[in-house]
Amino acid sequence: MTLSENDFNQIIAIMTKCSGIIPLECHKPMIREFIEKRLDQIRDYEPIVKFKFLLEQEKEELAKLISISIYDENYFFREEKHFYILKREIFPEWHRKNPDLIMNIWDAACSTGEEVYSLALLAQDCQIIPQIVASDISVSALNICSMGNYSADSKRYDDGAMFHNLLMPCLTDNNHLAMPGEIRSLIHTKQINLASLKDYNLPIKQHVIFLRNVLIYFDEELQAEILKTIAENCLADDGYLFLSQKEAALINKEIIPSCLKRIVFDDISYFHK
Ligand SMILES: C[S@@+](CC[C@H](N)C(=O)[O-])C[C@H]1O[C@@H](n2cnc3c(N)ncnc32)[C@H](O)[C@@H]1O
Repeated sequence: MTLSENDFNQIIAIMTKCSGIIPLECHKPMIREFIEKRLDQIRDYEPIVKFKFLLEQEKEELAKLISISIYDENYFFREEKHFYILKREIFPEWHRKNPDLIMNIWDAACSTGEEVYSLALLAQDCQIIPQIVASDISVSALNICSMGNYSADSKRYDDGAMFHNLLMPCLTDNNHLAMPGEIRSLIHTKQINLASLKDYNLPIKQHVIFLRNVLIYFDEELQAEILKTIAENCLADDGYLFLSQKEAALINKEIIPSCLKRIVFDDISYFHK
């Protein structure tokens, strides 16, 4: 089925209204191909009407379209310098200040979980006891996260290799990675749509929040709203917020909430409340 420009734009508009995601121009041919294939599968007298209905009603239909519309790449210890900062600066400071060692961590767009397990494995290695909330708009991504089984492709050698030793105990005979039950038990998954945070019971008093590679797809108004809610209501005093390096560099400084102070370490910046 070939989509008219008008129908295509209407479908994109529904996705943006429901999730905040504004796709890049370069992703549009792939999105069009995905929608056209999906419409061919829908047995209905008016597949476009049905698809628009599904997008508005079914979170997973929306999640599938989102995953085509963004650069949905996931691997362990992505942007390894963030994990280096946790290991070198934040976890040792936590040791000094909190003898009980329990730390609340929220991964606010965790996708299939490689990022969450990277946080859990590193925290455990640094003798921190993490209590982790892993959230995403996509329930199917969260299900993969809960299972904690990954193929060899979820490791890269140009980024993250600094910490690959932590994955060794998870290696299976067929070279896959299976997260141990003890690590999985540290993680609580929850579906949260960042575009409508007011509809959720959000994690509070979080000591570290990872919000990486998702803000970049939202408009500035939504970025500002999300940052304000997260910084003011979810991040603990003395907590740290990490955006991706690209987001931290590109974000309009005017929308960074005043309670956050930018910290620069080597060429990396992150935020402290
Ligand atoms: C590129 S992945 C980022 C994964 C991980 N944070 C990282 O940096 O490797 C973006 C994730 O954002 C999620 N996402 C997109 N829109 C969202 C929204 N409105 N609310 C919550 N999650 C969203 C997608 O489902 C996807 O899993």
